[in-house]
Amino acid sequence: MTRVVVVGGGGREHALAWGLSAAADVVVTPGNDGIAAHGITCTSAPATELDADLVVVGPEAPLVAGLADELRARGVAVLGPGAAGARLEGSKAYLKEFLAAAGVATAAHGTFDDVDAALAYLATMTPPYVIKTDGLAAGKGVLVTTSHAEAAADVAAKLSGAAFGAAGRRVVIEEGLVGTECSLMLLCDGERAAALVPAQDFKRVGDGDQGANTGGMGAFAPRALDAATRARVDAEIVAPTLVELRRRHIDYRGVLYAGLMLTDQGPKLLEYNVRFGDPETQVLVPLVRDDLLATLAATAAGHVDAVPARDRGAAVTVVLASPGYPEAPQVGGPVSGLGPDGQLADPLEGVVVFHAGTRHDGSGGFVAAGGRVLSVTAHAPTLAEARARAYEAAGRIDLPGMVWRHDIAAGAA
Ligand code: AMP
Ligand code: GLY
Repeated sequence: MTRVVVVGGGGREHALAWGLSAAADVVVTPGNDGIAAHGITCTSAPATELDADLVVVGPEAPLVAGLADELRARGVAVLGPGAAGARLEGSKAYLKEFLAAAGVATAAHGTFDDVDAALAYLATMTPPYVIKTDGLAAGKGVLVTTSHAEAAADVAAKLSGAAFGAAGRRVVIEEGLVGTECSLMLLCDGERAAALVPAQDFKRVGDGDQGANTGGMGAFAPRALDAATRARVDAEIVAPTLVELRRRHIDYRGVLYAGLMLTDQGPKLLEYNVRFGDPETQVLVPLVRDDLLATLAATAAGHVDAVPARDRGAAVTVVLASPGYPEAPQVGGPVSGLGPDGQLADPLEGVVVFHAGTRHDGSGGFVAAGGRVLSVTAHAPTLAEARARAYEAAGRIDLPGMVWRHDIAAGAA
């Protein structure tokens, strides 16, 4: 049987491992207790020491650090770009330079490491103001605000190193784009890109998109994307990106996640991530599970075809987070409603509980071990049914004081 190593230890990796385990022997490094409880092997051994036909790298940090290059140098097939490709996510300043060279529509911006110059540029902008750390900040380095005072304070906090350390000592200040967001994950083999169905995630912590940006509080797929917009995305964003990657001699084999803003002037690129989205993966895997191994292996080998289009229904995931998330999560709370396998004690058809951050409590149960704790996912024939089932499942789980949204997919289902 094909042996696959999944790198990472959150809900995204749980979903990938669960999906791949239908057709492969899967090992997750490091994984977490909830993934192991689900019958999936987890190990603390690094990916470079494990025997694998294919390594799927979940998070961006190891890709930016060159893990895929190291594995490929040893002859291992990898889903994930090398360090050169991973810079698209590792540095927002590099991303902006890349997009300008490629001619891809994106927000107007300036890049700064000096406070006075940054504040002078900010003074020329109109709200909403967007301030981003140049470097990686676990999805939390972006402030979007209509308050000039808040934006100015954020610039100062980031550039001083106080807010995000080295990652914030350079900032990108952007034009605020207005529209609706869409996450499009492309499987890119160096030459071609095959898109998975569009998804949508919910980044703000509170209902109605209020409050702080988080790693993601929920997601659904498929998200509607009309054919004309889709054609523009392919022609104006994806195609020129592939050309620019080749021009830079970057053999990009992995997921290219396009974060899109659909504006009145057409689709614009907010960001590229160089990996699967979290929690979007938790809703995409149930829709492609039968083809997941073959599709990922083909991508890593350099010959991706279109992802087979079958009608696989819809999926919704609701994230349950620790109290205080995202600013100051208090971990360690007891999670109730789960059986010893980490799944619903009282099962519901089509529901899988993906574990983002849990550990065993020593007596057969689980406690919260991270900001995001669980990603409760339902797969059903329609979005409305998937949404109802995901919320019914989430209602059967409790973590005292947990933070979660009640409006995931509400407008779409
Ligand atoms: P990023 O990590 O660059 O995708 O930013 C995280 C989130 O901040 C995005 O998903 C958007 O919700 C928001 N955002 C980022 N850039 C902009 C922008 N230029 N205009 C409006 N919202 C933005
Ligand atoms: N869901 C957003 C991300 O994975 O970056």
